Amino acid sequence: MQTLIKNGTVVTEEKILTADVLIEDEKIITVEKNLPATGVDEIIDAEGLYVLPGGIDVHTHLDLDVGATVSADDFYTGHVAAAFGGTTTHIDFATPAKGETLKSAYEEWLGKADGKAVIDYGFHMSVVEVNESILREMEQLSGWGITSIKVYMAYKNILQLTDEEIFRVMQVAARKNILTAVHAENGDVIDFNVKSLLRDGKTEPKYHALSRPPLLEAEATHRAIYIANAAGANVYIVHVTAEMSLAQIVESRKRGLKVLAETCPHYLMLDDSYLELPDFEGAKYICSPPLRKKSDNEALWKGLSEEDLQIVSTDHCPFNFKGQKDLGKDAFNKIPNGLPGLEERIPILFSEGVAKGKISLAQFVKLTATNPAKIFGLYPRKGVLKTGADADVYLLNPNAERTISVKTSHGNLDYNPYEGLKIKGKIEKVFRRGKLIVDGERFLGEKGSGIYLHRSSPIVN
Ligand code: URP
Ligand code: ZN
Ligand code: ZN
Repeated sequence: MQTLIKNGTVVTEEKILTADVLIEDEKIITVEKNLPATGVDEIIDAEGLYVLPGGIDVHTHLDLDVGATVSADDFYTGHVAAAFGGTTTHIDFATPAKGETLKSAYEEWLGKADGKAVIDYGFHMSVVEVNESILREMEQLSGWGITSIKVYMAYKNILQLTDEEIFRVMQVAARKNILTAVHAENGDVIDFNVKSLLRDGKTEPKYHALSRPPLLEAEATHRAIYIANAAGANVYIVHVTAEMSLAQIVESRKRGLKVLAETCPHYLMLDDSYLELPDFEGAKYICSPPLRKKSDNEALWKGLSEEDLQIVSTDHCPFNFKGQKDLGKDAFNKIPNGLPGLEERIPILFSEGVAKGKISLAQFVKLTATNPAKIFGLYPRKGVLKTGADADVYLLNPNAERTISVKTSHGNLDYNPYEGLKIKGKIEKVFRRGKLIVDGERFLGEKGSGIYLHRSSPIVN
């Protein structure tokens, strides 16, 4: 089956040109001007549209059991939302329980996706405890197609590792060419703050943010970078929220240390005033690290335009307001942490970033597709429009406008944190490995057709 996407504006990290994209079955055959249509089964007129490489979201938590509840999107509803948002690949976190082997977590996550996936997916492995057997098992990760791990400096007594444990994990990661993603917040001090605030009767959502100020993120970011470089490991700081943390990243690079980093749409768009909404609505905006100040939003946009941050991911971890977020009605530390973003990431970055002149179109492609593919071992199969790559492509009309609303969103959530936000640009068609899965408002993806991706080593330079 051959499909020819004609006369669109094809965007890659290197060039923007009017060209045609010829797809055969799952692959891109060529990207060239004026390709003949002979023998082609379907022609799509993309005049006036951007033709972009399918988005890659490297930070999601679908079907994640957080103890009291489970994140609201599974590998079907999350994938439908992602597809409408132009994302055709994501990487989720296989997260073992303490005492569980890494192999068993990997198999559990394969099971979560099996029969449901529509877009393609891979896994990072969360390392939530350290002993000889876990360190030995880490040696096998690349055999399962996993070339990145995540360690947590926060969530005391649940996921948090000590500095010594992180160093030992990073030493193995360095030897095996595994990228270490770090949740950088000082969990010990946060734990003390949470207990003190609750003891003083300060239970509302806004106190969540006060318990984990930017200083504690910046401190942990600094520590993570220095420990990683001491271990010789490649480090990737997830969900950077604050100017202060970004400054640690920039300063470390100036010293010759290696570090990569991401931020997420909510840290670019929302601020801590949302946590003070009446009637407990602030709970809708609880995530860790928390939302910061408008000045931090601005600093992160600058970080994108100056390429101090390499990726915009989502940390998609949605919980319904009714029945999930309200578990923390009486204590902010019981509110499940996380916001959605799979459907909104690309539209928001295009509208607020490209259309408002904060980032270039080429940077937009790098942040949403090419850098994620390179850094997480999927390049050049994913993240680029060129011969031999998977035909993951979306068409975006830069002049169309719409408004984000829970009423028209596709995830399994009873609110949208961006409700009412006017968006410039509309995704019209999405192809995943050559198959049209979104056509306007119609979803055409087949449940179970997404595949697990064995990733290669990260490209970190
Ligand atoms: O609030 C968040 N970010 N929830 C998901 C878990 C994590 O730390 O990424
Ligand atoms: Zn995290
Ligand atoms: Zn996360």
